[in-house]
Amino acid sequence: MNIRHFLTLLDLSNEELQGLIKQAIKIKTLHKKGELYQPLKGKVLGMIFEKSSTRTRVSFEAGIAQLGGSALFLSSRDTQLGRGEPIADTSRVLSSMVDGITIRTFEHSKVETLARYSSVPVINALTDLYHPCQLLADIQTFTEHRGNIKDKTVTWIGDGNNMCHSYINAAIRFNFKLNIACPKGYEPDTNIVKNAGNLVAITHDPFEAAEKSHLLVTDVWASMGQEEEQNKREKDFNNFQVNKNLMSVADKDALFMHCLPAHRDEEVSAEVIDGEQSVVWDEAENRLHAQKALLEFLLTKK
Ligand code: CP
Ligand code: NVA
Repeated sequence: MNIRHFLTLLDLSNEELQGLIKQAIKIKTLHKKGELYQPLKGKVLGMIFEKSSTRTRVSFEAGIAQLGGSALFLSSRDTQLGRGEPIADTSRVLSSMVDGITIRTFEHSKVETLARYSSVPVINALTDLYHPCQLLADIQTFTEHRGNIKDKTVTWIGDGNNMCHSYINAAIRFNFKLNIACPKGYEPDTNIVKNAGNLVAITHDPFEAAEKSHLLVTDVWASMGQEEEQNKREKDFNNFQVNKNLMSVADKDALFMHCLPAHRDEEVSAEVIDGEQSVVWDEAENRLHAQKALLEFLLTKK
């Protein structure tokens, strides 16, 4: 059986991803008109969460329900996973009962193991290394506001983290130029960067990275699991706030995105995130529509 998983954006081809964005926009229109669209009647999604979530949990749970299916929220605290049952065993059992599995966890290798032993599609709902679902929503949002992202310039400001890695993969799949500005010592993974060739440029100067850019994106300085580094990171990232000054060197029509949750006046000034160039609420809402397109794609594949 040829099961398709979504562990990183690179699991889907350029054409498949383009198709997903198109379908997400269509599904959103139907939803806004109040029209039922239920290609996943009777399907069940198991959702494993080993880290906190608001957007990802709600968008998957509401999304599968709107598509005619249902979801099970599985916190590691309440399942045998939290008591040390191997992920491979969990995967065999769960996938014999549900039609798809999402997992949010720490090590990316855990998601790979889950997929290896699963007889149903596995979706990465965030690991320490990647957050591919967020990128579907981000690309949908850019497309709705500014058209095709191909050949545009995108700037990532801040940590070379899971979101940054998924932006690098998005640059490869959607063919845009990605400038990354991070403090020394917080660069993204070298192999992930190498894979993108000359689509990605890394600098330690946010102003150089943001110049004439069409989209500025940032994220928290300390991700989930790095809470004890918060104070050190606040010092190290001091010059990496996205604020009016930084936005002023970007293209005049530049958009601002943040996957949320955000810390106002840390990684982004309140006036930028709450300002006119910010599309963070559309971006958050699009998690719902983009993941519905993803669920339909993976769960109806023969
Ligand atoms: N952006 C995002 O994944 O949000 P949650 O952590 O609330 O799911
Ligand atoms: N980089 C952040 C993203 C949260 C959605 C984290 O991993 O905590």
